[in-house]
Amino acid sequence: MAIKIKTLSGYFHEYQKSVVNPEQFWSQQAEEFFWRKKCDTILDWNFEEPKIEWFKGGKLNLTENIFERQIFTRKDQVAIVWEPNNPDEDSISLTYSQLFDKVKQFSNVLLSLGVKKGDRVALYMPMIPELAIAMLACARIGAIHSIIFAGFSSTSLADRIIDAQAKIVIATDGGYRGAKTIPIKSIVDEALEKCDSVEKVIIKKRTGENISMKSGRDIWWDDICQGVSTENTAEILDAEDPLFILYTSGSTGKPKGVLHTTGGYMVYTSYTFRNVFQYSQGDVFFCSADIGWITGHSYIVYGPLLSGATTLMFEGIPTWPEAGRFWDIIEKHQVNQFYTAPTAIRALMALGNKFVEEKAMNSLKVLGTVGEPINEEAWHWYHDHVGKNKCPIVDTWWQTETGGILISPLAGITPTKPSYATLPLPGIQPVILDNEGKELQGNSVEGNLCIKFPWPGMARTLYGDHERFKLTYFSTFKNQYFTGDGVKRDEDGYYRILGRVDDVINVSGHRMGTAEVENAINEHPRVVESAVVGYPHEIKGQGIFAYVVCNDMDDTTSEKGIIKSIKIGVNNIIGPIAKPDKILIVSGLPKTRSGKIMRRLLRKIAANDFTNFGDISTLLDPGVVEEIIEKSKAK
Ligand code: WT7
Repeated sequence: MAIKIKTLSGYFHEYQKSVVNPEQFWSQQAEEFFWRKKCDTILDWNFEEPKIEWFKGGKLNLTENIFERQIFTRKDQVAIVWEPNNPDEDSISLTYSQLFDKVKQFSNVLLSLGVKKGDRVALYMPMIPELAIAMLACARIGAIHSIIFAGFSSTSLADRIIDAQAKIVIATDGGYRGAKTIPIKSIVDEALEKCDSVEKVIIKKRTGENISMKSGRDIWWDDICQGVSTENTAEILDAEDPLFILYTSGSTGKPKGVLHTTGGYMVYTSYTFRNVFQYSQGDVFFCSADIGWITGHSYIVYGPLLSGATTLMFEGIPTWPEAGRFWDIIEKHQVNQFYTAPTAIRALMALGNKFVEEKAMNSLKVLGTVGEPINEEAWHWYHDHVGKNKCPIVDTWWQTETGGILISPLAGITPTKPSYATLPLPGIQPVILDNEGKELQGNSVEGNLCIKFPWPGMARTLYGDHERFKLTYFSTFKNQYFTGDGVKRDEDGYYRILGRVDDVINVSGHRMGTAEVENAINEHPRVVESAVVGYPHEIKGQGIFAYVVCNDMDDTTSEKGIIKSIKIGVNNIIGPIAKPDKILIVSGLPKTRSGKIMRRLLRKIAANDFTNFGDISTLLDPGVVEEIIEKSKAK
């Protein structure tokens, strides 16, 4: 039987057990699952290589744990409720048994195309049920899915397909997003001009727009499923066989292919889902993320389905056709737990209380947030107006690399404090280190957030680049997983995430590497160099501010024109989410004599803070700072 913590003392008890004997704790959590063979070792690890192995030698298939294990009790229960972009279109409900048949059928399709265990399959799809079906089919045959958010450009898509050497791409003709449509297939076509590894492209029809199908390569989903059997036996995998790759941005270079494996991720997402959200059988769970991000992987698909939940998938956006869309969906489908990002809350809050006050939303029991720090004002609005003062809020801190939630209240159990992620979940051992790597013990301390012991859901490597995995996460502080976040532990031992301490910015809950944006800006023919920093943005949390040095600037050159074309360039190279909010054209960047850009100055100026610049005597040309300040004030 699934174990669920019910009280605060129960939480402390479980937490204690998980620290005193982590192996025993997690092997107990793993017991409810269906293993074809029990594991040889529960945990083998060191953070030096690093090597992290959970349940090694254990044999299983994750989809057998969603379907075969639960089908007798849940076959007629709804697994996925799908709400379309347009509220006039019908929603769709798939029961566990219907979803099972579709997954088995599509597994057979992939097998018939020669996809084998370990092959990579790229998914570039809008939020339609086939996205979940395709990912589960990959998991069933042991193929590694790599889902690419359908808002990324063709260049970003191509980079990811090439890095993973994907054999198959699954996409749609187009996609709906509010009032807009996205030409998915033509973006895929453009990307594939550069990708040699791809043999077949499967297209699910969604918008019905005109697209071209390349003969021999492109296949319609509906055609290839025609008449295919729904009988399929799952591939038996090792617990440490890869489940998926998901690309995320880092402070340097190209996006990293974070790799998660099967057994540990299964145990961890399911455990955290049930406990954090206090999901009860029959509840309807609505996570508004896109499956293209880790939140969607873990808390729309895997965590909920492994726990026998009913999970809601929403194709559209919160503000279309109007700002009450989330609230309509909550009422229409009687949602019990709602999980969204602070940026969405702030955007809706800015549009006034009318929409939310019209709705009673009596079904709601729990609210959650994820992706970025939530400011107190947004927290209170969410609590008072959406939760009507009766729903606990879980502010869940985690990352693509952590696989699941690490620090969070348990809904209704852990007393909350606005803007605090509160306490670590069982199995999670956070430590706070100063910049020299010294652990700051006790309460009321602030520093770098690290985790000192492995948990089953953590990433195992970066696809094809274990050295970078080691360098990024395990080299800053010895024998620690370094999160890249700053944190404060207050007088009650509660954790408050302060934001990134590296060159990563968090825009609307999406992680962006400043170097990645700079590289895209630098592609512009007029740009000599650039520096990108984050600045406080009322809705997005952080906005993107770019300082750009251009060549041949004279009085007749239109800065406006260049700024516009830089924005278009970034949009085309990465995607709309990376488009700078502000661009300032300057004649030079503040650099130290060793050539390093003094970013802290640029961050201050971007935040309209023109005081206390500290020591700038190491700058090559301190005059540059004056110019930047003046120009910035003039804007
Ligand atoms: C970064 C991870 C985890 C899924 C969504 C983002 C920030 C995440 C919180 C939170 C404050 C948060 C951190 C983290 N972050 N959740 N509750 N409070 N900050 O995943 O793209 O991998 O980004 O998001 O800075 O490092 P991601």
